[in-house]
Amino acid sequence: MRKSIVAVTAVGSALIVSAPPSSAAPSAEGSITKEAFGKLADGTKVDRYTLTNGRTRVRILTYGGIIQTLEVPDRHGHRGNVVLGFRTLKDYVDKNGGPYFGALIGRYANRIAKGRFTLDGKTYQLAINNGPNSLHGGLKGFNTKVWKAEPVRGKDSVGLRLTYTSVDGEEHYPGTLKTTVTYTLTRKNALQIGYHATTDKATIVNLTNHSYFNLAGEGSGVAYDHRLQLNADRYTPVDDTSIPLGPIASVKGTPFDFISPHAIGERIRDNDPQLLIGHGYDHNYVLNKPKPNALTLAAKVTDPRSGRVMEASTTQPGVQLYTANFLDGTLVGTSGHAYRQGDAFCLETQHFPDSPNKPNFPSTVLRPGQAFDATTVYAFSTK
Ligand code: BGC
Repeated sequence: MRKSIVAVTAVGSALIVSAPPSSAAPSAEGSITKEAFGKLADGTKVDRYTLTNGRTRVRILTYGGIIQTLEVPDRHGHRGNVVLGFRTLKDYVDKNGGPYFGALIGRYANRIAKGRFTLDGKTYQLAINNGPNSLHGGLKGFNTKVWKAEPVRGKDSVGLRLTYTSVDGEEHYPGTLKTTVTYTLTRKNALQIGYHATTDKATIVNLTNHSYFNLAGEGSGVAYDHRLQLNADRYTPVDDTSIPLGPIASVKGTPFDFISPHAIGERIRDNDPQLLIGHGYDHNYVLNKPKPNALTLAAKVTDPRSGRVMEASTTQPGVQLYTANFLDGTLVGTSGHAYRQGDAFCLETQHFPDSPNKPNFPSTVLRPGQAFDATTVYAFSTK
């Protein structure tokens, strides 16, 4: 691969890192820029990086590795922001513990029953922060950490490599976990997220990104008319605290069947006990895979209004479909609109919730000498 020469210029407070001219595709030149986004109470600086390929633009914060905005063209070529988020660092610090807009989630995305698990004969107790359970890495999960950032440039892409080392015992998880997450925006309008983690003691790990998508545009109201197709014949039904019951169930004949496309809202108010528990969809789907860890299509979502299409592919075994059921109109987002129930949908690619307590689920145990690696791609097009 050709080593690129990067020109760095200071513009106001922003540091512009511009791409070298490329003869291969002169139309869509990629760029990576960096600007100050604010400071935490302890003085730690937070930066915002903007990656663009000329058509799509994504803004990523070093705080929580948060995707703040993701601007994608509609069928007329007009760019619109398709993810929910906040305007200021203060909002993310004060309010993002509920929704986790756009954030990296770790060490364990989703729930662990009663915050407890046993590994190699030792029982660990995590913080309880969601009913009787532990959710999304505990009180100060990866979504609250300031990640080290390094721009990365490929032949056909621009990217940002984020690293964070979680020390042994942080949030009561064992082992020092070194995590790298790489966001890559390709020339073909795909946002790829690569996850990599290693440990020095046996531990558990489950990493995801918690973006809330609305392909008609952030702040445009409910996303119930989006058509969703999920490549999953099965899902993991939950108890009334949203912990999987254990057995894996078929979606056939239930409102959870998205094998062929359905509008998200078509059956969301059906009198189905699982939908009532989640206040809508808030469930893990077991992805159909020819073999474990294969990068395969998980979901395809089409917005009839804008014509935007998003295809989510992943190497992970599951995806949490969460239809923003707990947004209640009390949070105001980037465009100044209040967010309400159903205003977005999440497709959190992941290992199954509560895997450490479910021997029949794919293992989330990571040992020294092993690496956790996963890839998720959100690819955008129009129809
Ligand atoms: C969970 C929801 C939760 C949301 C925001 C999702 O991953 O499954 O129950 O409300 O994250 O915290």
